[in-house]
Amino acid sequence: MSIVWEQVASQTKIESAAVSCLSLNSTMDSAPKRVRVTLGERSYDVLIGYDLLPRVGEHIRSIGLKGRALLVADEVVARIYSGIVRDSLAAAGYSVVTFTFSTGESAKSFSVLESLAEQFANAHVSRGDFVVALGGGVTGDLAGLLAGIYVRGLQLVQIPTTVMAQVDSSVGGKTAINLRAGKNLVGTFYQPRLVVVDPATLSTLGAREFNEGIAEVIKYGIIRDESLLDRLEGSLDQLDSLIERCVQIKAEIVAADEQETTGERALLNFGHTLGHGIEAVAGYGRLLHGEAISLGIRAALWLSVRHADLPPDQLTRVMALLHRYQLPTQLPEDLPIPAILETTKVDKKFTGGEIRFVLTSKLGSAFVTPGLTRADLEAALLFLRT
Ligand code: NAD
Ligand code: GLY
Repeated sequence: MSIVWEQVASQTKIESAAVSCLSLNSTMDSAPKRVRVTLGERSYDVLIGYDLLPRVGEHIRSIGLKGRALLVADEVVARIYSGIVRDSLAAAGYSVVTFTFSTGESAKSFSVLESLAEQFANAHVSRGDFVVALGGGVTGDLAGLLAGIYVRGLQLVQIPTTVMAQVDSSVGGKTAINLRAGKNLVGTFYQPRLVVVDPATLSTLGAREFNEGIAEVIKYGIIRDESLLDRLEGSLDQLDSLIERCVQIKAEIVAADEQETTGERALLNFGHTLGHGIEAVAGYGRLLHGEAISLGIRAALWLSVRHADLPPDQLTRVMALLHRYQLPTQLPEDLPIPAILETTKVDKKFTGGEIRFVLTSKLGSAFVTPGLTRADLEAALLFLRT
């Protein structure tokens, strides 16, 4: 277990007895932090607070959702948290139907999507019902996609329970499943009505799953707010405010470019072009998403030194952070570079024959460039072997 993770577990004061402590937390009555994602009629709030999970029902009621709650969770998360969420929904007057699937990245597939859709049909789900996606980014992406397409659209509430999902995937409306050819190739933009983030849920995450989410926090630090890197270099107290800052950045970017048409939202893909390729070629589930992104971040910083005048000591600084959070920085020998390069051709960031790659000249800001070649990416992947 990493030093950083032990710090977090003791700071949350919850550790393995999460469920009973969460109910204790429910007696606290502090107002949650609130970040608005401003998208006209589709605007919504992200609520962030330590006492939120046992009160999720009342928050959903307060935005006016009616019908049955369709609670979707992977088996691991369902075992730990579905009881609390079900009780809260029931206390708010909702009847709840629970749907579970096997945990892991491989669940982002047509077969699991189909199976859940069949279960919805067997449960006579109708447009009046709403989906509650409880879990990490896999659940959010999968249940979000199902919500967007089942009977042409069900209302959606996201309750993220991993760092990855709390700082990134639950906000902004991207949903998807994977193909062998590449990550997230089949998906929609489908915004939730509400996102409820309870950082106490992070206390039951394994160290590896906790740390992989930090890769996305590092990404926000690189592209928008260098002070996030300072915070990651210190002690990880006030996780709720760290999450809030990341969500603010994501909300601003999504509000400016919801469907990634202007280039603004593409900044969120820093480290993702090669990261996605590495994740797909490794086989979904071998590297956690954030671990693949860690490799992609190192490659993107190396390219930034070569093509955007990023001072090399800034690469060194981020490398130290990746190591601190036990994130991988070396490409495994058995992953073939040509296969990784091949995935960039089907990547959504590859348009009109150009790779749109995100680089940085200075930590805290980033830009998109069409100016890199396949040879540049190959050189970066070769560098990642070292
Ligand atoms: P995940 O959902 O698979 O969760 C990781 C593991 O943690 C799983 O085994 C899960 O069962 C377990 N888990 C979840 N919450 C837990 C908790 N509180 N306590 C104990 N165990 C818990 O993976 P993830 O890293 O959360 O998400 C990765 C996915 O998110 C990838 O598919 C990635 O493509 C996607 N993603 C999407 C977006 C977006 O904008 N839609 C952004 C970033 C990542
Ligand atoms: N995670 C990248 C995005 O939401 O655009």
